[in-house]
Amino acid sequence: MSLIEQSSGSSFTISPVSDVIGAEVVGLDVSQSLDPETLAIIRDAFQQHHMLCFREQTLEDDDLVAFSSQFGPLEVYPEKGHTKDKIEVYHVANVSLSGDHLPAEDPTVIYQRNNGRWHTDSSYRYEPSLASILYGIEVLPDEAEGGGTGFSNMLAAYAALPDGMKAKLEPLHQVHSYADIRRLEPSIPPMSEEERDAFPPVTHPVLRVHPDRDYQRSLYFTSNTSLEIGGMTLEEGKALHRWLVDYVGHPEFCYSHRWRKNDLVMWDNRVLLHRAIKYDFARYRRVLRRTTIAGDATVMGPFWPEARAAAGA
Ligand SMILES: [Fe+2]
Repeated sequence: MSLIEQSSGSSFTISPVSDVIGAEVVGLDVSQSLDPETLAIIRDAFQQHHMLCFREQTLEDDDLVAFSSQFGPLEVYPEKGHTKDKIEVYHVANVSLSGDHLPAEDPTVIYQRNNGRWHTDSSYRYEPSLASILYGIEVLPDEAEGGGTGFSNMLAAYAALPDGMKAKLEPLHQVHSYADIRRLEPSIPPMSEEERDAFPPVTHPVLRVHPDRDYQRSLYFTSNTSLEIGGMTLEEGKALHRWLVDYVGHPEFCYSHRWRKNDLVMWDNRVLLHRAIKYDFARYRRVLRRTTIAGDATVMGPFWPEARAAAGA
């Protein structure tokens, strides 16, 4: 545990929650803007732990946007109708914006089901997001099963791959397509032409190289917005995809966050996959609110000149 004394005289702690992912921040009120020194400490902890949980926060949507904006510009969501008052705030819930508990077939709930597949947020963009921030407003009671958020560390998952699999994956790109959510969940109403045109399918390397980490490599893929892998037949791509989905779920790469009310959880979409852990939608209410920090670059792959130079190729 690190105890951080602030120049204001108050203090907070940062404590790892597992060996592979995550730290808990206790005693820091993030409804106030962070001074530069504290912001630098939080950025460092985020880079080191990939996921931070700030406990016991009291935030309105404005506060959530203000906190998130300290880390970069925010994304605006591809479809209308998912926001509360702010277009940067995404309503992640099985409860309507007016507070009604929704049936399992409601599209809002189906989106939550789709989020149960391992994924990284906004990978359907040319420049996928840097981080997501999720605030727990209504969470499941302690005795309930599921309802948490699972994370898997793609740096660790890449490092543990057999050499043959590393070589096989090196030249590959996956298709990421927002519209493909409909293929996985056909009952969701269609997107407008305008929404579809704004988000055409993109491809990203399956191995991601991280210039901010000495060109370290990670896996980078998603299972909630596409299956196709460039250079493979659909069947080959799907088989590889199934293998990867199974592989990233191995417990040695994973940490599962159990939500407490007023948790604010921030994670790095560049190096983690995440998924919503199943729960009884009909029995329990769950309301979270999300912002997404935009990425500032396309995904670097192993054949980029900088990546090749760093690898001595
Ligand atoms: Fe997500």
